[in-house]
Amino acid sequence: MATEPKPAAEKPEARFSHKTLERNVTIMAVASFIVVAIGGLVEIAPLFWIDETIEKVEGVRPYTPLELAGRNIYIREGCYNCHSQQVRPFRDEIERYGHYSLAAESMYDHPFQWGSKRTGPDLARTGGRYSDEWHVTHLTNPQSVVPESIMPSYGFLAERALKPGDMRAHLTALKRVGVPYSAETIAVANDDLAAQANPDADTEALKARYPKAQTRDFDGDPARLTEMDALVAYLQMLGTLVDFEAAAAQEQPR
Ligand code: HEC
Repeated sequence: MATEPKPAAEKPEARFSHKTLERNVTIMAVASFIVVAIGGLVEIAPLFWIDETIEKVEGVRPYTPLELAGRNIYIREGCYNCHSQQVRPFRDEIERYGHYSLAAESMYDHPFQWGSKRTGPDLARTGGRYSDEWHVTHLTNPQSVVPESIMPSYGFLAERALKPGDMRAHLTALKRVGVPYSAETIAVANDDLAAQANPDADTEALKARYPKAQTRDFDGDPARLTEMDALVAYLQMLGTLVDFEAAAAQEQPR
């Protein structure tokens, strides 16, 4: 009676098995990390080629120094806690606020102000919707124009002189993260800041540097440059850079 030769498989072979993976916490941790890292890379890697991720859109330009100072006040005061700046592509939103937001419209926002909470309305297209006077009255005493408003009062902004620090340093920092400010633009940033809110200033060059820049006294007090000037200048430009009618006409030449 010849006995069958024992199968060679009896000797444990060095090959991958799930058992090894599941019973060894170190291998499990390393393997999990690799799997999660692949997922992360797939999401993160495209951001390094963001130039190609964001469509080029006509009209989008970096902020003027005054708008930037206003934007800093918007962030400082936490307006983003109650206001989003992102119109979503749904019919009800488009009818209420206007054209949905494009990625390119916030490409120079560092950090972006999309927000996630709408206690108040979205502000992405608020520019030009109200007069400067309305904004000043509303920010000073929201209930005087919208009786049921729960928005707090920001009247103190009109009392405070605007002291944004050296705007040249601010623009330089933004340039480092990809905002295309030229050396000449940076050099005159502090002058541009004051000129935009000064009705007597010559603003030809400023408007050439920043197309569609609105230049006037924003807070109703031409004698002073206040935080209110900057904030209203910022609110009045939101969503006004892209000409959607022209873009639509180009898309469907009929
Ligand atoms: C506690 C929440 C809250 C905060 C903080 C807040 N708002 Fe409001 N905001 C509202 C509400 C609610 C409304 C709608 C009622 C009204 O118009 O006052 C509103 C309305 C507005 C409007 C009018 C928008 C429109 O289309 O009618 C503007 C502009 C505005 N806020 C700007 C600001 C700015 C700028 C700041 C920061 C300085 C700010 N808000 C802070 C709640 C807030």
